[in-house]
Amino acid sequence: MDRADLLIRYGGPFSPGIVKSASGSFLEMEDGSRVLDFTAGQICATIGHNHPRVVEAIERACREVMHLNSWSLSPPVLSLAERLLATLPAPLERTMFLSTGAEANEAALRMSKLFSGRFEVIALTRSWHGVTAGASAHTYAAGRRGLGPTTPGAFAIPAPYEYRCPIRHCDGNCDCTCLESGFELFDQASVGSPAAVLAEPVLSAGGVIVPPAGYFTRMAELCDERGMHLVLDECQTGLGRLGSLYGFEVFDVVPDFLVLSKTLGGGIPVSAVVTTPEIEERCFELGFIHVTSHVSDPLPAAAAEAVLDVVLSEDLPGAARQRGDRLMAGLRELQTRHEAIGDVRGMGLLVGVELVEDRDTKTPAHALGPALTEECLRCGLSMNLVRGQSAGSANCLRMAPPLTVSDDEIDLAVTVIDEALTTVTNQLAVG
Ligand SMILES: Cc1ncc(COP(=O)(O)O)c(C=O)c1O
Repeated sequence: MDRADLLIRYGGPFSPGIVKSASGSFLEMEDGSRVLDFTAGQICATIGHNHPRVVEAIERACREVMHLNSWSLSPPVLSLAERLLATLPAPLERTMFLSTGAEANEAALRMSKLFSGRFEVIALTRSWHGVTAGASAHTYAAGRRGLGPTTPGAFAIPAPYEYRCPIRHCDGNCDCTCLESGFELFDQASVGSPAAVLAEPVLSAGGVIVPPAGYFTRMAELCDERGMHLVLDECQTGLGRLGSLYGFEVFDVVPDFLVLSKTLGGGIPVSAVVTTPEIEERCFELGFIHVTSHVSDPLPAAAAEAVLDVVLSEDLPGAARQRGDRLMAGLRELQTRHEAIGDVRGMGLLVGVELVEDRDTKTPAHALGPALTEECLRCGLSMNLVRGQSAGSANCLRMAPPLTVSDDEIDLAVTVIDEALTTVTNQLAVG
């Protein structure tokens, strides 16, 4: 029996090959081959795999203290709180550290509901906020079928997907009508208990959807009008990926809750909820409980501080801007030669390529995505295939390499995609 058959499959089949070790942007496979990792693990290896600073922080925590009871504080947690909050504008002045993104989104929503005494939450179609019950109630990209009812009070509004306007209103030039009409729908369906809007600054799993300028400032106004909190899920976009330290800076808003995970830990599970003193104080008075086994653990906090330090001292947001521009330019050049590339979009080092059968009809290329990612992996490049046009259709390549990726690695990825596209489109044309 293959040992992999001992494992529960939690998201389709496992990738072929066994990873023996990982360093920087590369995975070393058991068969001796190397794979350029353009998913940064699961978008977590922000400063590259097994960065010496993260390794050193973990080793130190192993010598000093790894884990404590949930009410005990330690220097790594206090130091991370101080360093993290120093990067954020007022009134984002209180934080807590948990393990996963889903858990942190849950904590933010629980605080929002407790504070307001309300329970309705709006999220965007195509969103991904995690698989725990509370987070998955507001996750519309996948994973909703067959599990029975979700949380009452969960509402979806259309994502600002410019390439295929969800309300057939504009083409490639979103004017935020989807946002306005989404709120109108909510107002009519609401039972009068609006608590929060939960959104990713760039919808990643939903197909790398970049909202237009002004989208989040308008969303913040719509929230204010209804007394709702704005919860920004920056699990993927925080810590420099979009070319600024946080996505909310690009969109010129300050959320009531900022949620970080993935990119914060550099490969170690750690997440953060950041909010205002007013919300923290009131929730404390109301008896807020979110005690988990690993809340405020020193080891993950030490790893996160090392990541934050490297991101700031090496200006990785700036690097993400430059390398992201190089990657987009390379992919746009491929688009001039490959009809199958319908759209190249993204921000910083979160980049998507939507595959189509032809550019005029924009018919999604259902078969091409899996064949292309398989061929790229065979040639030594790992990428995610995420949702494109419709549920069940994954026709969008997602690239999110470590922010430390080099120019040569970017160029190598573009070359592999170019060659693999030629091979696979020829094969599919013959087949
Ligand atoms: C934007 C976003 N939020 C939340 C999550 C959930 O994080 P976790 O898988 O750590 O629970 C993810 C995971 O993919 C994500 O991409």
